[in-house]
Amino acid sequence: MPPASPPKTYRVKSFGCQMNVYDGERMAELLDAQGISPAADGEQADLVVLNTCHIREKASEKVYSDIGRIGKDWSRKDGSAPLIAVAGCVAQAEGEEIMARAPAVSMVVGPQAYHRLPGMIADAVDGRRSVDTDMPAQTKFAALPARRKVAPGAFLTVQEGCDKFCTYCVVPYTRGAEISRPFSDLTDEARRLVDAGAREITLLGQNVNAWRDADGRGLEMLIEVLAAMPELARIRYTTSHPNDMTDGLIAAHRDIDKLMPFLHLPVQAGNDRVLKAMNRSHTADSYLRVLDKVRAARPDIALSGDFIVGFPGETDAEFEDTIKLVDRVGYAQCFSFKYSPRPGTPAAAMDNQIAAAVMDKRLQRLQAAINAGQLAFNTASVGKRCEVLVERRGKLEGQWLGKSPWLQSVHFAGDAAIGDLVEVELIEAGGNSLSGRLIGKTPRPDHPGQGALAVQQNQ
Ligand code: 5AD
Ligand code: SF4
Repeated sequence: MPPASPPKTYRVKSFGCQMNVYDGERMAELLDAQGISPAADGEQADLVVLNTCHIREKASEKVYSDIGRIGKDWSRKDGSAPLIAVAGCVAQAEGEEIMARAPAVSMVVGPQAYHRLPGMIADAVDGRRSVDTDMPAQTKFAALPARRKVAPGAFLTVQEGCDKFCTYCVVPYTRGAEISRPFSDLTDEARRLVDAGAREITLLGQNVNAWRDADGRGLEMLIEVLAAMPELARIRYTTSHPNDMTDGLIAAHRDIDKLMPFLHLPVQAGNDRVLKAMNRSHTADSYLRVLDKVRAARPDIALSGDFIVGFPGETDAEFEDTIKLVDRVGYAQCFSFKYSPRPGTPAAAMDNQIAAAVMDKRLQRLQAAINAGQLAFNTASVGKRCEVLVERRGKLEGQWLGKSPWLQSVHFAGDAAIGDLVEVELIEAGGNSLSGRLIGKTPRPDHPGQGALAVQQNQ
């Protein structure tokens, strides 16, 4: 690789989950601190960071096609190619393979090592390619610059990694063992987010409800402390595991107003034999009992889930149990996926892999059931008044887009600004969004303005 000039501009492109979005933001802040600026819209960047996702096949294949495109289409005006860094979970899982397969890539950096990007960039400028997929517990966060640029709805990673080892999932291998960030680091970071203009904080973790402080106190304690910050209006958390849904956390949904009435609680399947083969360590019934408790604590809670169709050996009758569960719960929204064998996971080596055509059919049926439930949930919201956090402008002149407490997308017209909390009457429901009528603004404590984000997300 020939020497390059030090990059002046960058672009971070994040794929996959919200934890990647968070990491993408932190990498952007790290590059800012090095004096590298975000490339303007439509402008070629000197450094491109692909922050990748490995959860399903499509997600990781995309990386190689993107690298090819950057090499060909994204060369700069002087004809030189940008420096390319591959970060995220594909980097962790396939580091050496990427280096061998994609000579245009000069840096491969795993999710626990991206604080070392500045040194790797210096090497790349000198023509040296490098791979860093170490998994040191904790050191990353301490080495990152303080938070400065945030959207009104900000993310805060509180927990990383997973010890659950569901048999289909790569996360325990790419993100490592469960670790909880220390309580005081999180309250510090939350303070900075709020000072930078965040009105809502979503606490993130692969198993966020497994978070514990040094004394063994759970996520409800952290939520309670954050809720005491006057400028912070809303708190959410995602993603949770059913087995870590403690009574204390469920009670927080009853007791803490700022904790939004929304719970993303993946179940994956509705049949107990399949759940066992997935090593989920809960049954359909024990999952439903958790939801009953949550609903008793917060009757208006909006529920969300993740589903996998076509896990190895899943029969038609077993798949029907998933449809029954969806119909019974009445989810407000869900994510559903075709099973994708991930190299190195136990399920990838199981017999009875399901044919693609069967998975396609099941996914269609499941999505029809999910969409029907989502429309029913949204339709039942019509006539309610609620607060909406304004996140961005809509497509039409004078239109705004934001989120209801139940995480529905709401659009409305009128006098508002990004970061406002406004009261809206929900007047019409669609499957994916609602329209609202602006009633008025909720006054807010003064806060400094917020900076623009230079991070793109691509699902
Ligand atoms: N195939 C399909 N979906 C998967 N998920 C995780 N691993 C796989 C896989 N191998 C889904 C699960 C999880 C979500 C983040 O991605 O539903 O909850
Ligand atoms: Fe993957 Fe299961 Fe851990 Fe979720 S709980 S990250 S699906 S291993």
